[in-house]
Amino acid sequence: MAAEWLKDTVFYEIYPQSFKDSNGDGIGDINGIIQKLDYIRSLGCNALWINPCYDSPFRDAGYDVRDYKKVSPRYGTNEDLYHLFDEAHRKGIRVLLDLVPGHTSEEHPWFRESQKVEKNEYTDRFIWTDFCFQAADGFPYIGGESERSACYILNFFKCQPALNYGFYRITEPWQKSFRDASAMTTREAIKDVMRFWLSHGCDGFRVDMAASLVKNDDEKKSGTSEIWHDIRRMLNLEFPDAAMVSEWNDPSLALRAGFDMDFYLNEPGGGYSTLMRDYYNNGGSIHGDRSCEDHSYFKKDAGGNINRFLGQYLSRYEDTKNLGYISLLTCNHDTIRPGYSLDSTELKLAYAFLFTMPGVPFLYYGDEIGMKYLEIPTKEGGYFRTGSRTPMQWNESVNLGFSEADNADLYLPVDNSENAPTVESQESDPDSLLNTVRSIIALRHQEHDLQADAPLQIVCSEAGQPFIYRRGSLICIVNPEGRELEIALPYDVTKHIHGETQFSIGEVSVKNEIIRAGAQSFAVIR
Ligand code: NOJ
Repeated sequence: MAAEWLKDTVFYEIYPQSFKDSNGDGIGDINGIIQKLDYIRSLGCNALWINPCYDSPFRDAGYDVRDYKKVSPRYGTNEDLYHLFDEAHRKGIRVLLDLVPGHTSEEHPWFRESQKVEKNEYTDRFIWTDFCFQAADGFPYIGGESERSACYILNFFKCQPALNYGFYRITEPWQKSFRDASAMTTREAIKDVMRFWLSHGCDGFRVDMAASLVKNDDEKKSGTSEIWHDIRRMLNLEFPDAAMVSEWNDPSLALRAGFDMDFYLNEPGGGYSTLMRDYYNNGGSIHGDRSCEDHSYFKKDAGGNINRFLGQYLSRYEDTKNLGYISLLTCNHDTIRPGYSLDSTELKLAYAFLFTMPGVPFLYYGDEIGMKYLEIPTKEGGYFRTGSRTPMQWNESVNLGFSEADNADLYLPVDNSENAPTVESQESDPDSLLNTVRSIIALRHQEHDLQADAPLQIVCSEAGQPFIYRRGSLICIVNPEGRELEIALPYDVTKHIHGETQFSIGEVSVKNEIIRAGAQSFAVIR
């Protein structure tokens, strides 16, 4: 069962490098986040996910951890982070840190010890073959860099050696079972890291590459799931209120393995991209290919069809609705911002949809004002992702209010285009994207039927008609097209509609059995 507090939670993802610089050194920090907690609360977000803020050489933006228990000096100190937990809690905001259990940095002391010839406590903390010329059976590996005569397996980039959680199917003599003592020791070491932060006040974790732990796992990820079950048992006993969201991309497996939530993002042919930007069209990929034709649903007159999303989402939703939550997101630090392809009206409709769906939604910092994806050079292993990681745009002052540093010293450039959106410029306009996001999230908190657990029922999803779904006693109507759409619904559906509009974008009317949804409109009707 998922943590109780998730029932009415909206997350805000913060990329700490780029959120708010409080000390003028050009990079965001923990005290900057503390300064902006009231702003986050004003959005209606009541929980944070902070990308890795630990000591790191930053060859993959902090996903290469050098010390799991130390805040990177560029963000502040451990005390600053404990202070953030306290301040956030005082304001009713929970805080998830990013847990990177699958790999460390090659500069982590565990790995340095593991590279040594002499046997020591860390010899088997990573996955090594048994000879310097012994390749690693289909896994990406590195040889020739250690005094130890063996090669080690990577989990992602070259800087990220894979921690040893063992193998499910053993095909080589150097592979150890996932129940081997060495694999159990790694598991305990990660539990120790989790206990450390939870006992200092953090509320749980976003778990990086959660499905990657046990190698040669079976299709159901039985080995990796056994580890998460074990970790869940520990949490239930020691930190029953803690929550975990996985980067797994398979809620049926992730929620059964003990996660409270799983992200819904990178599914070719049916996920996020069919809503916001059709990256997979014609063999493209969400990983940087921006050239493909866009038939995404919220793009005006792009011929999108919501059934491409529903066809995949609904079976996952049905399968997991009693186990935990699917987390829809506006985007994240690995994907291209929706503001790359959708304009302000299209974004309003897309977000109104995301924040009225079941599960636990996530808003990526800056998406609430429609920040753009910038075409800029790579930084710290970001590659194409760097364009979605630029500094938050607060106001019209120097560096758009992100930092008082010299422009040349900024971690990443701010958007210097003339019409770069800012929080300040949108505050006073009741129709701005920012205030629309606030209104729809406020409605979600007010209406139990829009929250995580209330049932979802599709009323109409046919192409050429408004998309209509029911959440308990409420009906949501969406029309992303540039022309009015009309539908006559049978009495057994309309009898549930009293016709009171709770929220709307554009014109939507319900009269007798006829629903008219004006061009680019959305409404929540009781
Ligand atoms: C997924 C993270 O979101 C991404 O930013 C990172 O590069 C990889 N995992 C490796 O940790």
